[in-house]
Amino acid sequence: MIRTVGIAGDWHGNINHAMWAVKQMEPHLGEEKIIYQLGDFGYWPDADNYSSFTGMLSRFLGKLRVRLAFLDGNHENHANLKEKIDDYIGDYATAPARDLLIPIAPNIEWMARGYRFFLGGREWLVCGGAASVDRAWREEGRSWFPGELITDEQEEKICREGYADVLLSHDRPAKAPIDLKSGVWPEKDVAIADAHRERLQRICSSARPSYIMHGHYHMAMEDTVDMGWGDVRINGFTCDGYPGNWGILDVETMEWVHGG
Ligand SMILES: [Fe+2]
Repeated sequence: MIRTVGIAGDWHGNINHAMWAVKQMEPHLGEEKIIYQLGDFGYWPDADNYSSFTGMLSRFLGKLRVRLAFLDGNHENHANLKEKIDDYIGDYATAPARDLLIPIAPNIEWMARGYRFFLGGREWLVCGGAASVDRAWREEGRSWFPGELITDEQEEKICREGYADVLLSHDRPAKAPIDLKSGVWPEKDVAIADAHRERLQRICSSARPSYIMHGHYHMAMEDTVDMGWGDVRINGFTCDGYPGNWGILDVETMEWVHGG
């Protein structure tokens, strides 16, 4: 039985940080050890350092008997992830939510948008994706992919499945407060990011989770917000190299029992 899980924010393919974080979390996990990574994992199969990143991490996880499941952030190769859906799932629209877990390497799996599982007496829903406000500095097909944004089809599928107690996401829903620096990013990209947070809010309004955990903003945040169906606790995490990138969650009490 799983009592505690690791939850981690963005890693950006940083192998030193990823291994350090896994090593910190592992002693606090029970017999069945699992870590959920909340996107910007570093899924770049075409990058020179990709095979060493996943290879080293996969072997390290194996030695510690830890399973890692990541969701997709904005900074991943979404074209390749789409191929994974085609290869492993086939028709996304009709695939059962519990099947949306795709092997990437030994001990590493990708939780596709809409993946659901049952843990600690609760229904957990996963939905990656976020908008890159730094898109102007990226090249489409190499360092940026339109697939970073949740689509109408994905939103409809997830909303059709209804209720969930817990949401793991990359983005932060619109009703959760956030203090972003204005004037730094191009206005049109900020508008896309705002629309994406609204889309995630619609998914929340359908699933009505009581707990949301996300990455993307590289900030440690904890807020409790009444979103219309009761209080929702929202935790945001920092990224690789910063304190506040990971936490150990008791999945029965939903209390944080360790963090770093
Ligand atoms: Fe990130």
